Amino acid sequence: MDSPKIFRQWNLKTYKDMFDFFDGQRSRLKCGKNEIVLDIGCGPGDLTSKLVPSYFPPGTRLIGSDISQEMVTYAQVNYSNEMITFKQLDIGSDNIWNRWEKESVNKIISIYVLHWVPNLRQAMVNMYSLLKENGAMFLLLPSQIPFMTILGKIGENEEFMQYTKGAKYFHIHSTDYKVLIEDYTKMLKDIGFREVDVINKEKCFHYSCYEALYDAVRSLDPYLKDIPENLRERYSEVIQNIAYNDKGVTLEPESGFVRIDYRLTYIYARK
Ligand SMILES: C[S@@+](CC[C@H](N)C(=O)[O-])C[C@H]1O[C@@H](n2cnc3c(N)ncnc32)[C@H](O)[C@@H]1O
Repeated sequence: MDSPKIFRQWNLKTYKDMFDFFDGQRSRLKCGKNEIVLDIGCGPGDLTSKLVPSYFPPGTRLIGSDISQEMVTYAQVNYSNEMITFKQLDIGSDNIWNRWEKESVNKIISIYVLHWVPNLRQAMVNMYSLLKENGAMFLLLPSQIPFMTILGKIGENEEFMQYTKGAKYFHIHSTDYKVLIEDYTKMLKDIGFREVDVINKEKCFHYSCYEALYDAVRSLDPYLKDIPENLRERYSEVIQNIAYNDKGVTLEPESGFVRIDYRLTYIYARK
């Protein structure tokens, strides 16, 4: 997921989901004068710079951040301006305070990121510390999505284990909705958030064909860079086979579209 350009090509689904989430949160997203909004896991920066500003008044300062220095550099070169800057951050690290300041931001947003962070509690603790008093965070993360199950299965595939082992990239969530809501609510309240709202959403998205879905999987694949060139074709076959048999992926016979069914979690929490 270090390649900003490839990622961008296949990431349009994110736009749709972000609008849906933010439109439902408009009143809570309202900003006062000169507020600072931190986007965690901004990727190539296009979402931060093109869409996010439409929810905030002029004068708001946006900081996009990402664990990948490659993403941050790409975003800084292509999208920084007087309102938006980008800076590296691993939100799951327990040592971010040499480069970041406690109680320094008014709002945190994070779209499709936290399922990549193994230590979710540490990430939430960091976000709590980054927020000013009365600050709020808005997090969108998938709780069940074919990309996660497909990539999870690739990680367990014996044929490629020597290249994928060691890379435990996913935070696999419980699929029991009620438990998920209870778990998040309890964790956030324990950390100190005063107001917490966790919602689950069922969603679907259509790809024009299987190839488009495979490309989307490839754009997220954390193992691909370590697969030797001479094994790439076989590796693609394995991915396609796994995706084809995934329960969340169906071919719609009439339209020929490939449909994925997935579940998102929307989290709002105020300090
Ligand atoms: C699926 S992309 C989402 C990008 C962007 N938010 C969007 O919706 O277009 C996930 C991003 O999270 C970043 N990421 C993964 N783990 C992270 C961490 N621990 N801290 C910050 N960013 C992280 C990845 O580098 C990647 O750019």
